[in-house]
Amino acid sequence: MTTPAQADSPAVVSIDNLRFRWPGQTSDTVAIDELRLDAGEHLFVRGSSGSGKTTLLNVLAGVHTPTSGRVRLLGTNLASLSPSKRDQFRADHIGVIFQQFNLLPYLSTLENVTLSCAFSKRKTERATESGDVASTARHLLNSLNLADEFHRAPVNTLSVGQQQRVAVARALIGGPEVLIADEPTSALDADNRDRFLDLLFQEAEAQGCTLLFVSHDPALAERFDRSIELTSNDPDENGTEKPAESAA
Ligand SMILES: Nc1ncnc2c1ncn2[C@@H]1O[C@H](COP(=O)(O)OP(=O)(O)OP(=O)(O)O)[C@@H](O)[C@H]1O
Ligand SMILES: [Mg+2]
Repeated sequence: MTTPAQADSPAVVSIDNLRFRWPGQTSDTVAIDELRLDAGEHLFVRGSSGSGKTTLLNVLAGVHTPTSGRVRLLGTNLASLSPSKRDQFRADHIGVIFQQFNLLPYLSTLENVTLSCAFSKRKTERATESGDVASTARHLLNSLNLADEFHRAPVNTLSVGQQQRVAVARALIGGPEVLIADEPTSALDADNRDRFLDLLFQEAEAQGCTLLFVSHDPALAERFDRSIELTSNDPDENGTEKPAESAA
């Protein structure tokens, strides 16, 4: 049910009858009838390999256009924007932690983080509210337990777990309203995974981000406000929203 506060402000993410089908396929990879996420909500998207998790995140981020139906971010239908406006919207309002991190190996840890602001005046303004972009990036990296000694190092000299935290800092700098995380814990053992999630939640909450987090690991669901499950290529089952197994 929509509360009066929700009626006043547009949802951060809203989905209506979304379908996405890859060319040449006979069934939809993504089918979600309805979903609304408000500011600060944390959604867990679970699904096995190939169930369409990355495809869904790319549709939400405006990288792929829905085959039918509508996705709105902050009240904006990304499919209605020109490609350049869509890229700018993504740079201004979305932080993405990619499944393969997509860090630039020849740049330092710090440069990988500050680069996010180079494409967005909005993120630059927000990242310079209490200092310059580099000092904000250093602060964020320290908050994620990446000490100063790693900030100047080429990012490819860091461990996988450290690179994951660089990817989080890069996604969070400049306070995007929407944070999208694609399996960021898949390479971690259970202890490091839990610590990583603690840091991710702490920083997402500090910045007021709405979080969409995908993983094949059902054990993580209990740490989120809500969860949905995607199932492979079965339009009848896809996108069934279910309550998390236990509330966070
Ligand atoms: N570029 C593409 N072109 C055509 N079909 C694609 C493409 N990318 C993905 N698909 C199809 O979409 C399905 C879902 O892929 P997707 O990468 O979204 O799954 P996933 O849930 O993220 O899997 P994983 O857990 O392995 O990352 C795949 O089985 C594949 O058939
Ligand atoms: Mg994937």
